[in-house]
Order: sequence, then structure tokens, then C-alpha cells
Amino acid sequence: MTPFDLAALAAPLTVPELPSGPVLLRPFALSDLPLIRQAAADPYIPAVTSVPAHYSDHEGRAFIERQQRQAEDGDGYSFVVADRSTPVRGWGGLGLWLREIENGRAALGYWITPSARGKNLAGWALRGAVTFAFEVLAIPRLHLFVEPWNIASQRTAEFAGFDREAHLRGWERIDDAQRDMYAYALLRQEWNSSRPGTRAVPGGQAV
Ligand SMILES: CC(C)(COP(=O)(O)OP(=O)(O)OC[C@H]1O[C@@H](n2cnc3c(N)ncnc32)[C@H](O)[C@@H]1OP(=O)(O)O)[C@@H](O)C(=O)NCCC(=O)NCCS
Repeated sequence: MTPFDLAALAAPLTVPELPSGPVLLRPFALSDLPLIRQAAADPYIPAVTSVPAHYSDHEGRAFIERQQRQAEDGDGYSFVVADRSTPVRGWGGLGLWLREIENGRAALGYWITPSARGKNLAGWALRGAVTFAFEVLAIPRLHLFVEPWNIASQRTAEFAGFDREAHLRGWERIDDAQRDMYAYALLRQEWNSSRPGTRAVPGGQAV
């Protein structure tokens, strides 16, 4: 197993293209403004991301430039969840954030625009990001936080092999209220050894 090497994660980071089932994770481009407009219209996405709550082309461009800067500054990888067969078409976003990387852990977050939901695209995107984080970056621990009502997100996490390990009361401030969160985690060690099933892809398509 490649050992974890903090120096390999120093800024600037390069956001790669990662195929996973029907999706391609790829860097943001200015042509993704329509995706940001759709995401901004969702009631929940702007509350848990920096997607603007009130869309304008200026705000949309600022969002995209921010995503590109996150990689340059070493804060993490911000991907578009795109259509694998037509990669210019974006369905959502996924972030792999390295703000706690000195402790050997990274955090993930994801969203899919309402019109593209119901096809488990976030689950495939998350699997692709997990494979990258473990096999290429050798990060020891990945985690993510989901509100207890958010069943779709819990299913997404479980599809990628995450286990729920805690109920964190009043953990995060969203829309001016302290919200409970379930903490989900996946360790590189268990993903490689006792959980090979998380890498199996129905239909034989490579993750
Ligand atoms: C969470 C989110 C990314 C999932 O998007 P998606 O990939 O389209 O997910 P789906 O709608 O296909 O749902 C995934 C799974 O949850 C199941 N599911 C969804 N809503 C459900 C509900 N209310 N009750 C039970 N199961 C539900 C689906 O049936 C599916 O299961 P399956 O794969 O076994 O069929 C999307 O809902 C979203 O962007 N929400 C707003 C932002 C957000 O919550 N981000 C996560 C923050 S932690």
C-alpha cells in the first residue's frame, strides 16, 4: 500500500478527470455557469455550499473561480459531476477538502441539481472520489456529514462504502439554526482489506 505522504498534497493541486460509472468528475470551467444557475435555484444547495443563493452571471463566475483557487491554494479538489458520455454537461458538484489533512483525514461534500436526481449520480461520483483519495492520494480517513432527514445523501454515502459512526447534536449552523448531523466515515485500510465490495461496479464498468 502506498504510504500517506503529506508533502504530495502541497499546493498547487491539479484537479484530475475521474470516470466512475455514468459520471465523469472533472474540473470546473466557465462553461458551467448554467449548472450553477440551476444549483442556486435549489432551496438546500446554497445553504450547505458556497453556491450563491441569488444567481447572477457575476456571482456564478465568482463561484467557479473560487473552485479553481481552492486547488491552487491546496484547500482541496472541487469537481463537476458531469455526464461521462457528454462531459460538457454538468449534473452537480463534489468537493474533496483537505483542511484537516495534517491529521490524515479529508472531508467530502456533494450535490446534484434537482432535474438530474433519482439516478444515484452522487453515489457514483462519491465512489470515484473515494477511489482517487485512497488509491492516488493515499489519504487514511475520509468523512462526511449528513442531516438525519437527508435519506438520499445517507444512501449515497452507504453506496460508496461509508459507515455511520456518530450522531452529532447541534453540530453545524445551517440557515441560522444549529443542526444535528450524522458523521459517516471510511478508512483506507478497511476499504482495501475488508470492504473490497465498495469497488465492485455492476455491469463491469471500471470505476
Ligand atoms: C443528496 C443528493 C446529492 C443525492 O442525489 P442523487 O444521486 O440524485 O440521489 P438519488 O435521488 O438517486 O437517491 C439516492 C438513493 O437514495 C434513495 N432515496 C432518495 N430519497 C429517499 C427517501 N426520501 N427515502 C428513502 N430513500 C430515498 C434513492 O432511492 C436512491 O437509492 P437507490 O440507489 O437504492 O435506488 C441530492 O439529493 C442533493 O443534491 N441534495 C441536496 C444537496 C445535499 O443534500 N447534499 C448532501 C449534503 S450531505
